Amino acid sequence: MTTVFSSSEAAAAAHLAEANPANGSGSPSPSQDDKGTTAARPAPAAKTATRGQVDITNVRKSFGATEVLKGVSLSVPPGGVAVIVGPSGSGKSTLLRTINHLEKVDGGYITIDGELVGYEVRGNKLHELREKDILKQRTNIGMVFQSFNLFPHLTALENVIEAPIVAQKRSKAEARKRGLELLDRVGLKDRADAYPRQLSGGQQQRVAIARALALDPKILLFDEPTSALDPELVNEVLDVIRELAKSGTTLIVVTHEMGFARDVADTVVFMDQGQIVESGTPQDIFANPREERTRSFFSKVIEPAFNI
Ligand SMILES: Nc1ncnc2c1ncn2[C@@H]1O[C@H](COP(=O)(O)OP(=O)(O)OP(=O)(O)O)[C@@H](O)[C@H]1O
Ligand SMILES: [Mg+2]
Repeated sequence: MTTVFSSSEAAAAAHLAEANPANGSGSPSPSQDDKGTTAARPAPAAKTATRGQVDITNVRKSFGATEVLKGVSLSVPPGGVAVIVGPSGSGKSTLLRTINHLEKVDGGYITIDGELVGYEVRGNKLHELREKDILKQRTNIGMVFQSFNLFPHLTALENVIEAPIVAQKRSKAEARKRGLELLDRVGLKDRADAYPRQLSGGQQQRVAIARALALDPKILLFDEPTSALDPELVNEVLDVIRELAKSGTTLIVVTHEMGFARDVADTVVFMDQGQIVESGTPQDIFANPREERTRSFFSKVIEPAFNI
């Protein structure tokens, strides 16, 4: 299916696809918008990740007549941790959903390790991938939602091993072994046989994280992973994500937890009204925001005692 991309964008993506064949051998240089707000800091030296470079280039998305992403560009290096903050309705979830092609973009393009997400270039045009290829591509991208989305009729372990068995054709024994390792990693090995209804919200979310890890994704997307949790359960989930942040998987996290953003992000991205207003280190964004919109947002959401 031909898309509505402009020919110049298709040409740019075609050029990019030629320069970066989808074999992970190369990645485009980080994009930079004209505000200079896009490039994430290089991952700290301790992280040796070599995969999971995300490049979002001038992405636009409308619902009906409303444009909710107005040309968003962002690069996250392998192993980088980008935390997206911003007011309700600013387009954070929509942006995350474009990264795994749950939402089609109307303009611009996204690559992971140089491979176009959701499209391929034929001739000088972008064509949407077939459903089967979209699903295959999505195995590179784990996503954790606010509402856990576990299968209620499957145990914790069965939830974790379902996709590896179905999508990756792993043997049941191998998937179980790996599934138990992952449940151990999120502190839930002893609850492997529990059903979601027998688990707390925090435990369910940790199962959801283990499930997202089970396909060994290049990147993990989190959309407000703690906002459905009782306050006393928030930290157990954030602690798991903190551990992941050290592990070299690229993370893109939408959250309202500013303390978490300050401690874990390489890059904090502030979005408002479908645009990235500014991005930078936690120090840049929390302590020295350049834009009035950023300052005004943080003055409403950050407690006076917040230390940067
Ligand atoms: N499927 C849809 N159909 C129509 N409009 C949509 C759809 N999804 C999102 N929108 C609109 O797009 C805008 C951005 O929504 P989005 O969910 O991305 O915001 P958000 O920053 O994640 O907000 P929140 O912090 O409340 O989760 C909103 O105005 C929303 O109403
Ligand atoms: Mg949202």
